[in-house]
This record gives sequence, C-alpha cells and structure tokens, in this order.
Amino acid sequence: MDTGEKRHSRVWEWLDRRVGLAEVEKLAKKKQVPVHRHTFWYYLGGMTLFLFLVQVTTGILLIFYYRPSAEEAYESVQFLMSGVEFGWLIRSIHSWAANLMIFTLFLHLFSVWLLKAYRSPREVTWLSGVGLLALALGFGFTGYLLPWNELAYFATKVGTEITGAVPLVGSFLLRVLRGGDEVTGATLTRFFGIHVAVLPALTMLLLGLHLFMVQKHGMSVPPSLEGQENPKRPMPFLPNFLLRDMVGWLSALAILGALAAFFPADLGLKADPFAPAPIGIKPEWYFMFMFKTLKYLPAHILGIEGEIVGILGFGIGGLFLLLVPFLDRPTARGERSHLFTWIGIMVIVFVIVLTYLGYTEVATQ
Ligand code: HEM
Repeated sequence: MDTGEKRHSRVWEWLDRRVGLAEVEKLAKKKQVPVHRHTFWYYLGGMTLFLFLVQVTTGILLIFYYRPSAEEAYESVQFLMSGVEFGWLIRSIHSWAANLMIFTLFLHLFSVWLLKAYRSPREVTWLSGVGLLALALGFGFTGYLLPWNELAYFATKVGTEITGAVPLVGSFLLRVLRGGDEVTGATLTRFFGIHVAVLPALTMLLLGLHLFMVQKHGMSVPPSLEGQENPKRPMPFLPNFLLRDMVGWLSALAILGALAAFFPADLGLKADPFAPAPIGIKPEWYFMFMFKTLKYLPAHILGIEGEIVGILGFGIGGLFLLLVPFLDRPTARGERSHLFTWIGIMVIVFVIVLTYLGYTEVATQ
C-alpha cells in the first residue's frame, strides 16, 4: 500500500467512524439488478435523474445572470446569449435537457406501467412518481415564460386562461398563478419563484421518497417473467449496472452538447402585452395533446361548455393515473391481467396521435 492509499484509507476510517460509511458500502454492494429481456427499461429512471441533475446545475448558473422582472428579463437573457462566455451553451443545454428529461420521464412512466412495476409493495413508488411528473410539467410551464418573449407570453396567457376555466376554483387559481388578472411582470416574478424555489424544494422531497422506495424494495421483475425456470443471474448494481448507467449519461451529455451547438435555444421578440397575439401560438410539446384535445371538443357537450368537459376529463385522467396500482385489482391479486396493459397502450397512442396532429395542423395554419 503506498502512502496515497494509506491516506485514503485513513480518511475513509475517519469518515466511517462518524457517518458509518461501511454500512452504506455494505448496502450498495448488496444491491442487485434482475437480468432479463426487459432490463433495458431499468435505465430510464436513472437517465431521468441524470437529466434532472443537469437541469439543477445549468439552472444555478443561469440564475447568476437572469433578472426576473418584465423590464429586464428579456435583456438579461439576450446578454447571457451574446455577452457571457458560454452563456449560450448553458442556456441551450438547460432548454434541451428539459425536453429530454420530460421525454425520458414519459418513457420511464409508461415502461413501469406496462411492466406492472406499480404492483404491491411499490404503490408509494408509483404515487411519488406521479407527483414528480406533475412537478416536471410545472417546471416546464413556469420556465417557458422566464425569457419574457412573445411566444412564451401568449402561450402563458392561453395556459393560465385554461386553468381559469376549471370549475369552482378556476378564477382563484388564475389569480394565484398570474399574481393579478392579467399576465404581467408580477406573473413573471411569481413563475420565477415557483421555478427556482417551490418546485425544486418539492422535487427534493418527492425524489428522496421515490429513490428511498426504489432502494428499499429493489427492482421489480415483471409478472410475465416471474417464476421463470433458469432465470439469469442478477447483475450487481456496483459497479456493473452503475457503469452501464454512466455510459448512458455520457452519451446523453454528448447528445446535449451537439443539440445545443447545432440548435441553440432561440429568444425571438420581446413580449409586448399590447401587441396582437402572433399566429401559431403553441404550448411546449408535452402539453400539446391536451391543448389539441380541448381544441377538437365541440363548443357544448350536453349543455356544458366543451372546454370545461375537457378540463374535467383531464382531471379525472390524472386521478386515474395516480390510482392505477389500486384500480388494477387482478394484478394486485397476483393474477395475469391485460386490461391495464391495453389502457396503457391506448393512452400512449392517444398522446402520440394528438401531439402529431397538433404539430401538423399548427404548421399549416
Ligand atoms: C423526476 C422524475 C423521476 C425520477 C428522477 C425517477 C427515478 C427513478 C429511478 C432512478 C428508479 C430506479 C431505476 C428504474 O426503475 O428506472 C425509479 C423506479 C421507479 N419509478 Fe421512477 N422516477 C421518476 C418519475 C416516475 C414516474 C412519473 C413514475 C410513474 C408514475 C415512476 C415510477 C417508478 C416505479 C414504479 C419504479 C420502480 C420500478 C421497479 O421496481 O421495477 N417514476 N425511478
């Protein structure tokens, strides 16, 4: 043992006596990942986590230059893009990683859905996951407005208007979100606070719970593979699985760098509340399927305003998503059931088709 290693081991011992490193090491060494034909999907949660960490890091760097007021927000982003060294890179990575994170989050959600990983005892993992999905969408919605450009301004106007149509609590929610009746500088300051303080704090709590649950229960084996004869030997998490995870993360970083360099985030024109709404206002792609569904609904359904029916429908859909582990009774009883697999597939098809229609029809407007 050379002196370097000795010093390392002394530091280790020092820390171990105080924080119990050996126990953590024992736990980490015990962690195993099942190996079968669906193992690939186990990488998606880790990928989402990595992209979230990219968001935290680049987001902190952006705060050093960003100014959350209607008078200065646009100009501060403009300065960041042109006057700050690598500012364009940090902002573009933040914007691309947000989209990639929501994409991998959807893949993670639907893969755990179709593999029935929500089965007992993983209901709390699922519940915290749905909470994380809501938070991620909240990050996207509030972040979109921050550059205070024309498209974001009008998209936020439309988005908050939709919130205002929620029965009973709508007008209250609209005022809470906007900080008044209109989208103004007060909305921007409020969205900034939600984006950089409220949502990160809630995410830390839910993410902590989610990862603790994953650690406690280990990875699930899909019901279709349970009780299989001659199952493959599980893979140790440390170092085998983690190293594979890291290959994915490095590749994601390379893809992010390339996307940021070739397609840097644009800024457009500064928001002008008195200007007419530009043509082709569209929400971020992950809200498109809801936006488009509301557009397709007739003005009235059974005497109720179509938009309200749609909003109620999405509310019920969200509640259904949350309760999937409790509604899928056959799976909870350990029986094979295809109903929830088909519902999952139908939801995926619905989201893809409406998103596609949203883009093709917006493009021809
Ligand atoms: C920021 C968002 C999220 C992060 C960072 C995250 C992270 C993770 C990680 C690292 C794992 C372990 C590896 C894996 O199975 O991929 C995991 C497992 C899991 N996640 Fe998530 N997750 C998120 C959102 C969600 C959502 C939206 C759902 C579903 C509604 C969900 C449900 C689950 C379930 C049920 C497991 C256990 C899988 C198993 O045991 O096979 N997660 N998550």
